[in-house]
Amino acid sequence: MHYLQIKGEAKLSGEIKISGAKNAALPLIALIILSKNPVTIKNLPDVSDIKTLIQLLANLGAKCEYLDAHTAVIDPRGINSTKAVYDIVRKMRASILVLGPLLARFGKAEVSMPGGCAIGARPIDLHLKAVEKMGAQVKIEEGYVVCEGALRGANISFDKITVTGTENVVMAAALAHGETCIINAAKEPEVVAVCEALASAGVKIEGIGTDELKITGTAGELLNINEITVIPDRIEAGTYLCAGAITNSKISVTSVNPAHLGAVLAKFEDMGFKFEISGSGNDSKITILPADEIKATKIITTEYPGFPTDMQAQFMALTCVAQGTSTVEERLFENRFMHVSELNRMGADIKLNGNIATIKGGKLAGADVMATDLRASSALVLAALAASGTTRVHRIYHLDRGYESLEAKFSALGAQILRLEE
Ligand code: UD1
Repeated sequence: MHYLQIKGEAKLSGEIKISGAKNAALPLIALIILSKNPVTIKNLPDVSDIKTLIQLLANLGAKCEYLDAHTAVIDPRGINSTKAVYDIVRKMRASILVLGPLLARFGKAEVSMPGGCAIGARPIDLHLKAVEKMGAQVKIEEGYVVCEGALRGANISFDKITVTGTENVVMAAALAHGETCIINAAKEPEVVAVCEALASAGVKIEGIGTDELKITGTAGELLNINEITVIPDRIEAGTYLCAGAITNSKISVTSVNPAHLGAVLAKFEDMGFKFEISGSGNDSKITILPADEIKATKIITTEYPGFPTDMQAQFMALTCVAQGTSTVEERLFENRFMHVSELNRMGADIKLNGNIATIKGGKLAGADVMATDLRASSALVLAALAASGTTRVHRIYHLDRGYESLEAKFSALGAQILRLEE
């Protein structure tokens, strides 16, 4: 197994090109199941979650070919199975994203109950209730969710805002008979990317980017999709900006969309950092400038456009070196605090009370720590950069699920970071 060895008290400089968004690429790959043609998908991040989903599509019978590390052509015409098998799904919970498209195209989908990051119970009841409302019969058989039936439009009101749930229903509704109305839909940029890909293939969708979506299905007619480009990864961008912040260095991220990072940039500003922003849309550049003093803050994670739960761990690492006491309230995933004990091993002073962490800022010291989930792992890398001495972050396969060329990108910023064998 590999681990990362990171030398602390780093000073970083330079710029990093941000990869395509893993969480947008995943539904966009699943969406290709709805296409009648082969689709070229560009700006894919070179991370293991993407390879897992492509492997899943190949296992269903799709022809998948990489043109280069970031571009693949996926031909869904050969799909001859509707079963997403345990061996692949257990690696990644987001495999559930094939449920909506398979059901919509073939009238049947069997998906092994998903695994993935261990951050709370993470049920899929909302996905299932929605497809049931659209006319599917849902059963659980031998660890598989089995959905069957022709889909028709329905009124779906989500009790809780769910990102992949919204994506699944939007994709299912695209081929259904009639109109589907989703109330309390997720508004994340990744959901918008899915809606826009469908809209550019001719599916009528009203309310894109709002919490109420109306989708008119094609009544079974497959979609004419040729090319999709994945949007920039706002979480990867936020993580590198956090690296600039925690080392109080000036660094830039390029190929990003500042509009997707509103709550994150505002929080950096609250903590005393300033930015320079240039370019436009997905091709922007953000430079973070050192703060005179890193101030304590109060963070509450909520759905987009609020502060993202996927940036919670990285900001907690940052609050560990702030002046004064910060609080972090996690409202989306009850168990998303596995990084707390590891940060405390590095000398942090974090106390947990239910879903609220109180962090007394101070100094961090290098230690051996264990990565526990994707974003918690990146928080440990950030903490290591600021700590005195050397840190070894173990179990980094979590990081490889979602961060492309992490040590190469950090090395390019001047960090001393090595991938070594245990
Ligand atoms: C997606 C992201 C993940 C991010 C999360 C929240 C992908 C591949 N993953 O995960 O990185 O942290 O959004 O922004 O895009 N819930 C239910 N029942 C359901 C579905 C969800 O109770 O059927 C609950 C969850 O337990 C959680 C909340 O709803 O408390 C939000 O989860 P959801 O938005 O569904 O997260 P994911 O789509 O799995």
